[in-house]
Amino acid sequence: MKFFIDTANLDQIKEAQALGVLDGVTTNPSLMAKEGVNGKENILNHYCNICEVVEGDVSAEVIGTTFDEMIKEGEELAALHSQIVVKIPMIKNGIKAIKYFTDKGIKTNCTLVFSCGQALLAAKAGASYVSPFIGRLDDVSTDGLLLINEIRSVYDNYGFQTQILAASVRHTMHVVNCAKIGADVMTGPLSAIEGLLKHPLTDSGLKKFLEDAQLMQV
Ligand code: E4P
Repeated sequence: MKFFIDTANLDQIKEAQALGVLDGVTTNPSLMAKEGVNGKENILNHYCNICEVVEGDVSAEVIGTTFDEMIKEGEELAALHSQIVVKIPMIKNGIKAIKYFTDKGIKTNCTLVFSCGQALLAAKAGASYVSPFIGRLDDVSTDGLLLINEIRSVYDNYGFQTQILAASVRHTMHVVNCAKIGADVMTGPLSAIEGLLKHPLTDSGLKKFLEDAQLMQV
C-alpha cells in the first residue's frame, strides 16, 4: 500500500519524506488555505514546491465546477509538473472532465467519494485514483472501511485499474485496516503515519536492552 500525506504543509511533507516511506501527497482547498497560500501565482508555486520535495504523485484540486472551468484549471495544473494529478470532485461535470483528461493521458483523482456507485462511475470514466473519505463517513455513523471493502470487490470483479486511495484517514487503525482490505493507497496526516511506530513493548524492550548493554564489556 502506498503512503500519501494529506497536507499542504511543507515541513510536514519534508518530515514524512525524510522517514523514507512517502509515496505522494494529497492536498485540497481547505489544506491550502490552512497554510495561508493565497493568489493564483502563490498557489501554483506551492504545488511546484511540494513536487520538489516528494518523488511521487501530488494531487492538486480544481476549484471550478463547470466543465470548461475544470478543463482550463486542470490543464494548467497538469502543465506545472509531471507529478501533478488533477483532483476533480465527484459531480456530473467532474466525471466528464475525468473522461476528458483520461483520453489526454492526464492523471486524475476523483475526490469527495462517499458511495460504491460513485466509485464505479469514477472508474468507468478512467480516473487514476478514487478517493473515498472514510473518516468523514465514520463521523456520520457510517462504516468508512466497509466502503473501501465494497469498492475493492467491485474493482476486482472487473479489473478496473483505478487505484483506491483511502482518504480522510484519521488514525493508525484506519491505515492498518485499509492495508488489510487491500486499498492501493492511503492518505492521512503525519500523526497517522508516525503512529504506526508506537508500541509500549518496543519502548520497554529497548530500555531493557540499552540497560543490559551497559553490562557488556564493549
Ligand atoms: C482527500 O484527499 C482529502 O484531502 C482528505 O483526505 C480529507 O480529509 P478530512 O476529512 O480529514 O478533511
